[in-house]
Amino acid sequence: MTNQPQRFLTGITTTGTPHLGNYVGSIRPSVAASKGVGAESFYFLADYHALIKCGEPDRIQRSTLEIAASWLAAGLDPERVTFYRQSDIPEIPELTWLLTCVTGKGVLNRAHAYKASVDKNEAAGNDVDADVTAGLFMYPVLMGADILMFKAHKVPVGRDQIQHIEMARDMAQRFNHLYGEHLVLPEALIEESVALLPGLDGRKMSKSYDNTIPLFSSRTELKKLIAGIVTDSREPGQAKQVEGSALFQIYQAFATESETIALRRAYAEGISWGDVKTLLLDRIDQDIAPMREHYQELINDPGKIEAILQAGADKARALATPLMRELRMAVGLRKLVTPAVVPHQPKAAKSALPSFKQYRQADGQFYFKLLGSDGKLLLQSLGFAVPKEAALAIVSLQQQGAPALPALAGQLQSVENVSPEDIAAALQQWMDAAAR
Ligand code: TRP
Repeated sequence: MTNQPQRFLTGITTTGTPHLGNYVGSIRPSVAASKGVGAESFYFLADYHALIKCGEPDRIQRSTLEIAASWLAAGLDPERVTFYRQSDIPEIPELTWLLTCVTGKGVLNRAHAYKASVDKNEAAGNDVDADVTAGLFMYPVLMGADILMFKAHKVPVGRDQIQHIEMARDMAQRFNHLYGEHLVLPEALIEESVALLPGLDGRKMSKSYDNTIPLFSSRTELKKLIAGIVTDSREPGQAKQVEGSALFQIYQAFATESETIALRRAYAEGISWGDVKTLLLDRIDQDIAPMREHYQELINDPGKIEAILQAGADKARALATPLMRELRMAVGLRKLVTPAVVPHQPKAAKSALPSFKQYRQADGQFYFKLLGSDGKLLLQSLGFAVPKEAALAIVSLQQQGAPALPALAGQLQSVENVSPEDIAAALQQWMDAAAR
């Protein structure tokens, strides 16, 4: 476990055309991260997720093409990372079902996206589930399957997705508890330093606000869109504020530190809005123009992208297929000739409990010890003169758990390679079992 490389995984829903906000917030940092050493990156086009929000088949296909071309044009190296399309991995919907069966319906009731729809319906006086598909309801489980299938450690996402990662973690925990240690518990990775880009109207750049600048607009289109970015009515020559200036914030997301300082000074000195817009156009174009050509080439050669995605799917399935085989075995979806007991059968682990042993030694004293469910020595007492004292110590541990330990400190010897957490967990497990 310890020397495994960290595995990063993230999905991009294939609705819409990538815009500058996607580039700055997701594509650019992800491509940069994928070049780091010691990381294994998985990026995929979440087209099953796209079906939840979009009923336009051609748009899904077009968006898949555009997003794939954007990531590749931005420098994603499909040799270094695993870049694939979700719907090319049939194991994902299969795992979705296994996870569905270990996920509480009440947990899904609380998922933000579903709850938002319910709240909206309630406010409008409609049936709470009006126009809510089961797909929207199940969104977090499909996402859990995406993540758990590839044993991702870190999932770089926006803040709005944290809850989904926590749910995936809970699904993994629940699955492992029932069927043995098969899945890795993932963590969300929130990039604090990544800029949130304002859109044309100054609000966050987002498809849903219809205020975006497409990443690969032509220079002419880019110029037109930038001309429409909101400013205040300060005249040329009047000092301007960088705070709240969408133009400044977008510029900053592309510029070097010294370029940003220079623009800040120009604001104070009363640069005209028209000149800021020209600076911004040139600065964005400086980064995007070299990729734009590559993007156009890719868009015009969908067969090439398709081949890259197929190669990615092969890499991904080389992991997904054996894991799914393992999970099917674990849950009992087995050939009838397969013996019922498979390695790592959790039943045994589940029924085995930590145990207390009380005994007398050759020195005539009375001792006790606590063994973990795996038989490992966790606590070892010193000698007691009478058996009753040893018994009382055991009872206090059985009734109070770890909080009883400080009072017993003088009567315990230290055991090597055992952490207080191990002891506390075993005591808790004992108490949980006794309470049943
Ligand atoms: N739900 C994510 C979004 O809208 C996209 C996504 C789907 C995803 N599956 C994922 C992200 C798995 C991270 C991991 O942004």
